[in-house]
Amino acid sequence: MSDRLNVVVGITGGIAAYKAVGVIRLLVLAGHDVQVVATDAALRFVGKPTLEAISRNPVHSDLYEGVSEVRHVAIGQAADLIVVAPATANTIAKLAAGLADDLLGNTILASRAPLVLAPAMHTEMWQNPATVANIAELRERGVTIVGPGSGQLTGTDSGLGRMVEPDEIVAAALAVVAPKDLVGKRIVITAGGTREPLDPVRFIGNRSSGKQGIAIALDAAARGAEVVLIGANLEIAAPASTTIQHLTVSHVSTTSELEAATMAAAVDADVVIMAAAVADYRPQSVAENKIKKETQGDRLTLELVRNPDILRQLSEARRDGQIIIGFAAETETNREKLLETGRAKVVRKGADFLVLNTVGWTEGFATETNSIIVINTAGDIVSEATGSKSSVAARILDLLS
Ligand code: CTP
Repeated sequence: MSDRLNVVVGITGGIAAYKAVGVIRLLVLAGHDVQVVATDAALRFVGKPTLEAISRNPVHSDLYEGVSEVRHVAIGQAADLIVVAPATANTIAKLAAGLADDLLGNTILASRAPLVLAPAMHTEMWQNPATVANIAELRERGVTIVGPGSGQLTGTDSGLGRMVEPDEIVAAALAVVAPKDLVGKRIVITAGGTREPLDPVRFIGNRSSGKQGIAIALDAAARGAEVVLIGANLEIAAPASTTIQHLTVSHVSTTSELEAATMAAAVDADVVIMAAAVADYRPQSVAENKIKKETQGDRLTLELVRNPDILRQLSEARRDGQIIIGFAAETETNREKLLETGRAKVVRKGADFLVLNTVGWTEGFATETNSIIVINTAGDIVSEATGSKSSVAARILDLLS
């Protein structure tokens, strides 16, 4: 998503209300303005100060407050998107009937914005014919239902009815309002960092979490592209292809596994984005058993050999019209020197674009934000962005559209 949206997050009274805090946080981090409308029941589960601190806005809950501003319709009218998480069986029933006996009901009824519901309830309630009919009715009217998932419910039981995780709710909700400018495009994205085993318990790896690559995959899928995400040791949960449309996720670990998966997926791709941090070397041999100090003594010398350069192979195998994008994470902090390194690298790799960013002990890896400069083969700067990894993802994909 590129623009700042006015998002209303409705919270209703279920134990999953505490997870709504995560939904709000992700939306705020992505640069959106979030107005929270909570029911009285929701506020029994999660405190107003928490919601106000995270949303950075006052929380609305009372139908009879702000009457002079006609708040019961104003919030809904101003919304670009409404997400209700959790949506209880009771709220779903009220929405299906068009009831407006509280501020959230009024807000939704008075809004033309797309509505996304993340149901949370016990299995029996979800499977009750009343709820089944209400959900069918809401779907018929164009409401997006995210989840529910299966898993531990309140108490000791588990099953269908658990609210899906905040990142999936946010991704599915933003997908509803994203511009569909990448429809029909097939995009392969690699994310994370490869690991090269030394023995059955140790590896050589890097600090890439995969967050930036995942953000690109989610935004591309939201914009209508058919996305293949190849994750190498992702440090955060990979998005579930069950809730995110147009997304296929596969997992690899070593550079040679990443090479095989990427080269195969690239065959019919329009765009390949190599956001993964690839180990340049691997141990020449992998020990069958755990390496022991008794046999090694005070020093251990590892013999490493070069890994294949996947990006270069992709560029060499490029079909007509296929776009290849590389990343270069450099510790260089001087802008001119960073660009100089990038210009040499984009030519060496044969990529169409190179996304440059500075990484260090505290920058770039595993953080929520990123700062990038994109150059083309000629070395010209074609884009620059600083912000959340999802806003940076949007800027990179803007180059394609
Ligand atoms: N890359 C790759 N295969 C490798 C190494 C890197 O495909 N064996 C890709 C990365 O995914 C990234 C780009 O190449 O998109 C640049 O990675 P980087 O590590 O910066 O490049 P290197 O060629 O390894 O250069 P350096 O010597 O600076 O590490």
